[in-house]
Amino acid sequence: MTRRVSLTQYLIEQQRQHGHIPQELRLLIEVVARACKRIAISVNKGALGDVLGTAGSENVQGEVQKKLDIIANEVLIEANEWGGHLAAMASEEMEGIYLVPNRFPQGEYLLMFDPLDGSSNIDVNVSIGTIFSVLKKPEGAKGVSEEDFLQPGSQQAAAGYCVYGPQTTLVLTVGDGVTMFTLDREQGSFVLTTESVSIPEDTKEFAINMSNMRHWDEPMKRYIDECLAGKEGPRGKDFNMRWIASMVADVHRILTRGGVFMYPWDKREPNKAGKLRLMYEANPMAFLIEQAGGAATNTRQRIMDLTPTQLHERVSVVLGSKNEVERITAYHLDAKP
Ligand code: AHG
Ligand code: MN
Ligand code: MN
Repeated sequence: MTRRVSLTQYLIEQQRQHGHIPQELRLLIEVVARACKRIAISVNKGALGDVLGTAGSENVQGEVQKKLDIIANEVLIEANEWGGHLAAMASEEMEGIYLVPNRFPQGEYLLMFDPLDGSSNIDVNVSIGTIFSVLKKPEGAKGVSEEDFLQPGSQQAAAGYCVYGPQTTLVLTVGDGVTMFTLDREQGSFVLTTESVSIPEDTKEFAINMSNMRHWDEPMKRYIDECLAGKEGPRGKDFNMRWIASMVADVHRILTRGGVFMYPWDKREPNKAGKLRLMYEANPMAFLIEQAGGAATNTRQRIMDLTPTQLHERVSVVLGSKNEVERITAYHLDAKP
């Protein structure tokens, strides 16, 4: 019989063998995984669980909140606030940081999340997910403030996502490769299903919202035009396109079979660096992608080198198969700013 390794067992063995997952971080990952299981249950209920539709409120970015955005946010907070592993949390759905209440012990870690990624896909039964990123509170810091969260992505202690699709899959990195766990619904536990995830360096598949093409800058247009020109064009090969509109699902495909994902700056809102959020979306995904051998830039610089100036900062994102990301980045660097 093949040995089934649960997430708990995997984390304990990693801690024993390599010592790179401290006890508190292990607890944190397990608690996030448990919260994702609860979110998966709500997602699976759909119309039967009164979880579809809008909540009638807006978040700090002015986006209409779906019922599940709020449910997932509450599940993550409730699960994480009492364990003693965290100092504070920050979420796409909350304006300020959430301090662990005084009645609970305080830990060293900071947890950031996009509780429900791909909100526009909830009601139409397409894959959605939860994205998370873990930082350590700066040493010697008394209490916690928003500034403590403003660390470059290279400081992440762990990152991951859970995708709620045909299967519920948890994807994790603690800076030593990428591992995937599939939820066994009967057992109620995440089981190790892929170790050492690796992204091919080359690809023929790109993911971008093409309806925004007329708003992009020249280097981005150049790259996509060349892909569209196919075999007869400068790239000499035909490309395929996918766009799920849930970053988790697009990134999951790229971790599974390669590809490149782009959400660039565009002229619709020229003062915003991009649509996606640095702390809850770009950084954790960049960490996973790099750990699987891919690359992630904001079209000019490595995403994980950027120092955030605010919690809800936005950023342009290009990530996936290394050679494509390098090409797109080079097109931007070659062009006039
Ligand atoms: P969220 O649902 O957390 O706001 O994120 C949605 C994001 C991302 O998941 C996806 O890639 C992108 O928005 C889709 O944007 P468009 O609808 O503009 O294609
Ligand atoms: Mn999102
Ligand atoms: Mn979201």
